[in-house]
Amino acid sequence: MRSQVSANIVASSAAIVVAVVLLLPQAEAARAFFVFGDSLVDNGNNNYLLTTARADSPPYGIDYPTHRPTGRFSNGYNIPDLISQALGAESTLPYLSPELNGEKLLVGANFASAGIGILNDTGIQFANIIRIAQQLELFARYQQRLGALIGADQAEQRVNQALVLITLGGNDYVNNYFLTPLSARRLQYNIQDYSVFLISEYRKILLRLYELGARRVLVTGTGPIGCVPGELATRSRNGECAEEPQQAAATFNPLLIQMIQGLNQDLGSNVFVAVNAMQMQNDFITNPRAFGFVTSKVACCGQGAFNGVGLCTAASNLCPDRNVYAFWDPFHPSERANKIIVQTILTGSDKYMTPMNLSTIMALDSKI
Ligand SMILES: *[C@@H]1O[C@H](CO)[C@@H](O)[C@H](O)[C@H]1NC(C)=O
Ligand SMILES: *[C@@H]1O[C@H](CO)[C@@H](O)[C@H](O)[C@H]1NC(C)=O
Repeated sequence: MRSQVSANIVASSAAIVVAVVLLLPQAEAARAFFVFGDSLVDNGNNNYLLTTARADSPPYGIDYPTHRPTGRFSNGYNIPDLISQALGAESTLPYLSPELNGEKLLVGANFASAGIGILNDTGIQFANIIRIAQQLELFARYQQRLGALIGADQAEQRVNQALVLITLGGNDYVNNYFLTPLSARRLQYNIQDYSVFLISEYRKILLRLYELGARRVLVTGTGPIGCVPGELATRSRNGECAEEPQQAAATFNPLLIQMIQGLNQDLGSNVFVAVNAMQMQNDFITNPRAFGFVTSKVACCGQGAFNGVGLCTAASNLCPDRNVYAFWDPFHPSERANKIIVQTILTGSDKYMTPMNLSTIMALDSKI
């Protein structure tokens, strides 16, 4: 009799749980998503800052659903948007957006800021941008706001179960080490030692993310920074990928994978997943036609050699069909290239994703 009663109680509380789950706002259906890093993943924070590193005027956003600039450094969607879509979630809002309030907080947030790097002295020419230490501080502040909405325990759980993306490193070369022929960092380090230093600083950043509750983190290194139209225009011979930046990327990325493997070992869990963005982009840079691109050397939007000189503005040359260009502007992939990258993040082999791809992560995490 007694067990019958408690069985009924269990059954009805299960029914209540089901009802509560069904009543939850759409936003909570998917896991939360948090984004940290630079312009490859900024979806509009710099619109709110006094900086020259911005993508808030046409033709940026020309292929976005609104056909308006949003602050994304893309003709349309960027990598975080496409990952959100794979999670079945809406895009995260920039942390600085006034719309990031109430239930929108459940979706997650994007803390990325164009121009930043691993080091504090990267991107100093962009003045007022949100450096990585500050992005992490804002993440802590975000968690307090989420706690006020759903309670501290629920907030902590939502952060633990979230997917996180962090993209750093490219600017530490392009907008620091290689910025001028005699940059301070170049006088201090050769490429190998500088890369080792960057990795040791990146490790501290990842550990801080872990302390803040992140438990599933996609970590990207640099792309093939010597092959982007901006570098082809300024330092290549005959349109070949610029040697030193390529050497830097080829040094940095394997060190990153090693560091992540060691970190996971120390933590006893595959918290961090290395995304080999260099390998992913090398595929379509070496063989653009196989991916439906007519070129990987010329930017769709820009001017001068390779359309790689200066910024993409309303006065730039603009290609008519953005889908056949691997690079949208002198430094950033087109939406189509971003789709190829995210597809590889989802289903790529261990040549691209270490120790596993995002499909495997999603299957694993859904069982918890
Ligand atoms: C970068 O700046 C932050 C905030 O000012 C500081 O906490 C951090 O230690 C600095 N990082 C390095 C490597 O100097
Ligand atoms: C993801 O990675 C696993 C393990 O490497 C692999 O077997 C699988 O084919 C990849 N793709 C998908 C969609 O899971």
